[in-house]
Amino acid sequence: MPREWDATTYDSLPLPHLGWGRRTLARLPLRGDERVLDAGCGTGRDTEGLLDLLPDGRVVALDGSVRMLDQLRERLAGRLDRVEVVHADLTKPLPFDGEVDAVFSVAAFHWIEDHSALFAALAARMRPGARLVSDCGGRGNIAAVNAAVAEVTGTPSGGWEFAGIDDTRARLAAAGFTEIDVQLRPDPAVFEPGEQLESFLATVILGPRLDAMADADREPFVKAVAARLPEPVADYVRLEISAVRG
Ligand SMILES: C[S@@+](CC[C@H](N)C(=O)[O-])C[C@H]1O[C@@H](n2cnc3c(N)ncnc32)[C@H](O)[C@@H]1O
Repeated sequence: MPREWDATTYDSLPLPHLGWGRRTLARLPLRGDERVLDAGCGTGRDTEGLLDLLPDGRVVALDGSVRMLDQLRERLAGRLDRVEVVHADLTKPLPFDGEVDAVFSVAAFHWIEDHSALFAALAARMRPGARLVSDCGGRGNIAAVNAAVAEVTGTPSGGWEFAGIDDTRARLAAAGFTEIDVQLRPDPAVFEPGEQLESFLATVILGPRLDAMADADREPFVKAVAARLPEPVADYVRLEISAVRG
């Protein structure tokens, strides 16, 4: 299974994800009675937005982190009758019944290295004609942050797939998608220097690195990376996908 997340700290951060979520919701045309998969739903901020757009529909809220899903259950208490909460890995056959009418995803796909397996797993659960809209880190994402990490550690950062336009188009076509539109959008996020920047780095970007470190090494590492950034900015580049299951 994918790694665990600190869901409480995550929800307390000034997340650029809010804007990415709003933008991605706006790209998904809905009637209101569909069944939609929120792939890598996290703590359910956009699952809630989807429920608002689906008065007669349902959401399959799927994530690989138990703690994120616990937080989602708290957030959506009272509305869970229209939510199927699924703990699963998006690169494996997805363990829920039937098909969905659309797939929505924000800030999740770049955490998955095998995008061919991801798109195949999604396509297998989408009815023909179902639309995928997603946002995630794309080619060039957080290059300055990764340069700072490399300066501190002496090794390049890894564990993400920051895909480009042509490779993504080819992978989507191979998984059976049509009407493929893929864009890259530079979208830097500015933080207050100090605690806010460091908390964001520790909880979101550097999480997998910190998992592998002794407790005592974590804070100095985060501070060292933050100190090497030319400005308190996460230099995000978003990969935005819209495609239809053929
Ligand atoms: C940055 S969070 C984004 C969460 C939410 N979509 C948002 O915008 O706030 C990335 C999420 O992707 C999930 N994730 C990463 N790899 C996954 C995988 N292979 N299968 C399922 N979920 C995964 C993580 O558990 C995490 O909740």
